Amino acid sequence: MEVVITEDVDAVAGRAADIVVALLRSRPGAVLGVATGSTPLPTYLELGRRVAAGEVSFERCRAFLLDEYIGLPPDHPECYANVVRRRFADVVGLPPHHVAGPDVWAPDLSAACAAYEDAIVSAGGIDLQLLGIGADGHIGFNEPGSSLASLTRPTTLTSVTRGANAHRFGSIDDVPRHAVTQGVATIGRARHVLLLATGAHKSSIVAAAVEGPITAMVPASALQLHPHVTVVVDEAAASRLSLADYYREIEAAGPAWRPA
Ligand code: PGA
Repeated sequence: MEVVITEDVDAVAGRAADIVVALLRSRPGAVLGVATGSTPLPTYLELGRRVAAGEVSFERCRAFLLDEYIGLPPDHPECYANVVRRRFADVVGLPPHHVAGPDVWAPDLSAACAAYEDAIVSAGGIDLQLLGIGADGHIGFNEPGSSLASLTRPTTLTSVTRGANAHRFGSIDDVPRHAVTQGVATIGRARHVLLLATGAHKSSIVAAAVEGPITAMVPASALQLHPHVTVVVDEAAASRLSLADYYREIEAAGPAWRPA
């Protein structure tokens, strides 16, 4: 796991945008996995600025949603398909028909989940999966106790997650109780995973995910088994990492394969 500690929210966005831009320059038709939540929003805005500056284009790229609520009407503003269109695709100029999500309105949800897995495979797999991390350790909507071998499936949200998202709905009672999420193993199939976390309120769970035991109680800890994960955090979110100084040394020294 590569852990990059940056100063603040803007620096996290800058570093994350660097990674996305580098991928799209080498692979303009790359397949992205996109996350909702507050954490990636500054990164999406930074990517929009880089598109406006002519540094990169998303016209050929494709994207898959990480998760989607069950039970909202398709035109609801908090449907993740709509959130991703507003906050990401429109901002970076990604054609709307290049963004796919699980069909949570299908009469046969299991078949829709399997079809979503197939669609990701048919697209060649996800090159870069962006992730936030929930205060309860979830990635996507893989809540504590999720099988670390799970694939895309319907799941039930914890009250921690529903509480964290209540401000977007006005009240916790209006936050859906269920969602379809890419599974922990689905996320693990992405070639590169980019996990972002900012703020002191994420410091304990970041430490648990990065340095704690691999456990279904902290689904993000499964990323320790992945060969290519970059965790980009600000100083506040890094404040409980016991190896923080070592991560800084690694960053300052540059890649180990660079000649002296
Ligand atoms: P947040 O959500 O970015 O709004 O903190 C993260 C998540 O739940 O994955």
